[in-house]
Parts: sequence; structure tokens; C-alpha cells
Amino acid sequence: MVMPPSKALMTSAPSAARQRALRRHALRRSAAAFVLATLVALPLAVLYRAAVSRPPGASWGWETSLPSLVASEEEEEGAEDSEDIKLERVLKKASTGDNTVILTTLNAAWASPGSVIDLFIDSFHSGVRTNSLLKHLVIVAFDQKAYEQCVKIHCYCFALGTEGVDFSEAKRFLTAGYLEMMWRRLDFLRLVLEKGYNFIFSDADIMWFRNPFPHFYPDVDFQIACDHYVGNATDLRNIANGGFSYVKSNERSIEFYSFWYSSRLRYPGYHDQDVFNAIKHDPYIVGIGLTIKFLSTKYFGGFCEPSRDLNKVCTMHANCCIGLRSKIHDLRIMMEDWKSYLSLPPNLKRLQTSAWRVPQNCSLSSSHR
Ligand SMILES: *[C@@H]1O[C@H](CO)[C@@H](O)[C@H](O)[C@H]1NC(C)=O
Ligand SMILES: *[C@@H]1O[C@H](CO)[C@@H](O)[C@H](O)[C@H]1NC(C)=O
Repeated sequence: MVMPPSKALMTSAPSAARQRALRRHALRRSAAAFVLATLVALPLAVLYRAAVSRPPGASWGWETSLPSLVASEEEEEGAEDSEDIKLERVLKKASTGDNTVILTTLNAAWASPGSVIDLFIDSFHSGVRTNSLLKHLVIVAFDQKAYEQCVKIHCYCFALGTEGVDFSEAKRFLTAGYLEMMWRRLDFLRLVLEKGYNFIFSDADIMWFRNPFPHFYPDVDFQIACDHYVGNATDLRNIANGGFSYVKSNERSIEFYSFWYSSRLRYPGYHDQDVFNAIKHDPYIVGIGLTIKFLSTKYFGGFCEPSRDLNKVCTMHANCCIGLRSKIHDLRIMMEDWKSYLSLPPNLKRLQTSAWRVPQNCSLSSSHR
């Protein structure tokens, strides 16, 4: 699946990405300076007018100190601008003390009751010290139905504008709609980094059994789970899985996400994960100075390569699985396995007699639908 990078595009794409990133930064900086100057120098009426005409994408940073202003501003703003403010507001509310949020994305197919998102939330409730992490989770809805279901089951929901594209059906792996959804997600994650938030991104078909934070590497920009882990966290031969990552917000990670997103043009027909596995060797990433580590499947496993020891497992991903029915079937069995493990007395837990009964219906061929 890994394609050799094309030399010609390799040199032009990064510089284009960098230029865009720099332009964005310059815009944000000048907008911030402008807002600050206005705050100090001008009366409120003028400030308000200046604020509503700010460039799109500019960050505010002061909406909490001027709540009434923002409330009236929201009604008059275009849809795009108010989405930006809503995003900043939800990130601020959900973030930890060090500006970290947990993010997942949701479409209608994964949102219906008893479906993937319910299992995801349930895993936090039945995991070891994972319940309190829910207050840092933001569910990013790709469509109206997903958003409506989200607000019924969770406190932090964000509706991502999708410009007329319908992401609501169950997307078969590697259809055009599925690819578009994956790339939209990547672009969104870049935006979160630009707003200054670190994140754990987790697909909703990943069950959280233990708090992952103690198992992350300190001082690493980009950490990602694997379909296949070779036993060495820095070895680029690890096969990454884009469904779970922990990313620090800084200039390197923002530049890297811009580069990754722009690389989709060099690998048409591939999704973000395959493109990552191709560009991870790109010297441009060394040039950025981005530090990458791969997370061991011992703690961050999946159906491709399970975390065998239930005393150690943090997360389990229903990866290597095509078809929503099979996925839900196997996720339910996995949750049962986890709950029966938890009900064991400590001495039996220590004996490591528990084992997953999955994957059963999950496989990479679509014979089970
Ligand atoms: C892990 O991989 C890196 C990069 O390939 C290599 O430099 C290092 O020696 C490896 N470490 C071990 C313990 O094999
Ligand atoms: C799971 O696989 C079994 C055996 O192949 C089959 O009978 C069952 O219908 C499958 N269930 C789902 C939900 O796909």
C-alpha cells in the first residue's frame, strides 16, 4: 500500500504547505494585535464593529471576559465564523489544565442507540479510572443526526460544517465518501492544534479500558497507535493506525499536519493513514524537527494485533474490521470479556487467565456484512 514519494512533488508540496501555514500564522498574529489595540484604545461600540469584521479564522481569546458581546455577536455572524467561536468555546470548556482535549468523530451510522458511540462511552464508564476522562471528551459530529444524538448522550458536542457533503451513511472502507471524511477529519485536527490545544484523537470504535496518559512518552510531538508494532517505538517500520494519536500543539505539529494534509494530492485514492505510512520516511519531517513515537500494541491494541494482557491493556481498537454489523458484534463481545475480567478476584486477575474472544466476525475481507 505504501507508494514511493514522487521527487518533483516532494519539493513543491511542503513549501506550499509552509507558505499557507505562515500566512495563517501571520493573519492570526496581526488579528490578535489588532484586537488588543482596539481593546485598549477604543470605546465598546467601535470595538464591537471591529470584532465582527475580523478576518475569518482569527482567534479571539477574550470571549469569556465579554460574554454579552459574544452572545449578540453570534446572531449576526455568518455561519462560518460562529462555528469557529463555538469550537473555541467547547475546546476551552472540555480541556484539561494543560490545554488537552480528547476528540472523536461521529456520523449518523455510528450514532444510533446501541451503536458504536454508545459502546465507546460505556467503555469509559467501565474502564479503570477512565470515567473522569469523559469531561475532557469532545464529540465532533459530521452531520445533523450525529449531532442530535450526541447532545442526548454527552455534554461536549461540536457540529463540523461539511459544506453540503453527506457523511451520514455507513461509509464502506475506501469509498470516495469515506476518504473525504477521513481527510476532513485530519484538516479539523490541524485546526485544533492551531488553536493551541493538544489532543488525544480516538476513533469511537476504540474501547478505553485504562487511562492512557501514564503510557505516553513525555516530550514527544506526535504519538500514534499501530496496526503492527515492531517492538521499537522509534522505528519507522511500525505500521501506524490513524485511529488513535496523541499530539502536542506546537509549530512542528501544526506544520506536520499541514504537510500531511497537503500530501493527499500526491497520493490520490489513499486515506490519511496510508499517506502517513508513506510520508513518515519523508526527509521533510526530519527538517520540521517533529518527534514521532509509535505506541506499543501491548497497551494500545486492536483486532489487527490485540493487547494480550488484560492487566495492561489501555485501549482496544476494532481495526482490521470491515462492515459495521461485524464491528458492533465484536465490540460487544470485547466489552463482555472486559467486564468478566473486571469481576475476577485480584489473584485470578494476576494469573492472566483472561483472553479476548475476539476478533470473531471482524476481518479485512467484507464477506461478513
Ligand atoms: C529502534 O529503532 C531506531 C530507528 O530505526 C534505531 O536507531 C534503534 O537502534 C532501535 N533500537 C533498538 C533497541 O533496536
Ligand atoms: C457473525 O458471524 C456468524 C458466523 O459466521 C454469523 O452467523 C452471524 O450472523 C454474524 N453476525 C453478525 C452481526 O455479522
